[in-house]
Amino acid sequence: MSTHPDHDGSSPSPPPPLPQGERGVERFTEWMNNIQTRVEAALHRHLPSAGSMPQRLHEAMRYAALGGGKRVRPLLVFAAGELTGAAPEKLDLVACAVELIHAYSLAHDDLPCMDNDILRRGRPTCHVEYGEATALLAGDSLQTLAFELLAQPALGDPARQLEMITLLARASGSCGMAGGQALDLAAVGKPLEQPELELMHALKTGALIRAAVLLGALTGAPLPAEENRQLDRFARRAGLLFQVIDDILDCTTSTATLGKTAGKDAAAAKPTYVALLGLHAARAYAAELRGETFAALAVFGQRAARLGQLADFICDRQF
Ligand code: IPE
Ligand code: IPE
Ligand code: MG
Ligand code: MG
Ligand code: MG
Repeated sequence: MSTHPDHDGSSPSPPPPLPQGERGVERFTEWMNNIQTRVEAALHRHLPSAGSMPQRLHEAMRYAALGGGKRVRPLLVFAAGELTGAAPEKLDLVACAVELIHAYSLAHDDLPCMDNDILRRGRPTCHVEYGEATALLAGDSLQTLAFELLAQPALGDPARQLEMITLLARASGSCGMAGGQALDLAAVGKPLEQPELELMHALKTGALIRAAVLLGALTGAPLPAEENRQLDRFARRAGLLFQVIDDILDCTTSTATLGKTAGKDAAAAKPTYVALLGLHAARAYAAELRGETFAALAVFGQRAARLGQLADFICDRQF
């Protein structure tokens, strides 16, 4: 794990620093496992039960959302929520909302009309298991359930909830994830320049990662304007970093480790950072982005240590 700049005194009473070194890594892993377990349980509760009508659709929704994935977006929600003192029960709802949008995006991304993938999280993709029509409807229904969760009275602040719903809607729609997916499909076989590729990545993946960070923070007490600005800067760079690493892993890691078909990007002539820059330069760019995420967190000192650890995790992950 990287170390982070010392606290600069901008917060009145920062909590004690998180441990670094071997014990710090252990504690991060323990924290991560706890959140992953917690979010899995919350998703179980909020998804429609598999036995309820329409049964096949509900089974497909549960199949697409449960039992796999790194839960990076929920981890970011919790880490950013810790920064603003958000209640864990509220963060459960927010983390589930973001993860449901992500699960929907994967179910649709894998469809034959998009990336045509048969393997996801080490299992057959949703449409392989349930058929295209059901996978499409499962994605639709996961998406609407996400907004239903953000509208829950338990979040306790209607004005803030409207802001959160708007933020997630923008991050998911035509100027966010869905827009990025449209750019991705339109660019197949066409070499993109770096600014176009960066926009595509920032939208298709970055927008939802950014939303996870901002929504987690919004669940707690408001931050000073400069801290909000730096958190947003962190979130944007972390989002881009996530997709640059996804591009790298696609051509450096096995299908067994990835849990999805390796080498698909080159085979489908997708514009990626590896295709644009080559593997070596793509790795160097990822390292540069990691550095930028840490620079953005400097204003928070140790209060943002979890977010820094997550930036490391996003960069160093093997799948
Ligand atoms: C994969 O996301 C799709 C992208 C946005 C690149 P993740 O790598 O977060 O997938 P899971 O949730 O861990 O399976
Ligand atoms: C997917 O990007 C982005 C979204 C699902 C929005 P990719 O197509 O690269 O994701 P993987 O590699 O299939 O997970
Ligand atoms: Mg895709
Ligand atoms: Mg894909
Ligand atoms: Mg990919």
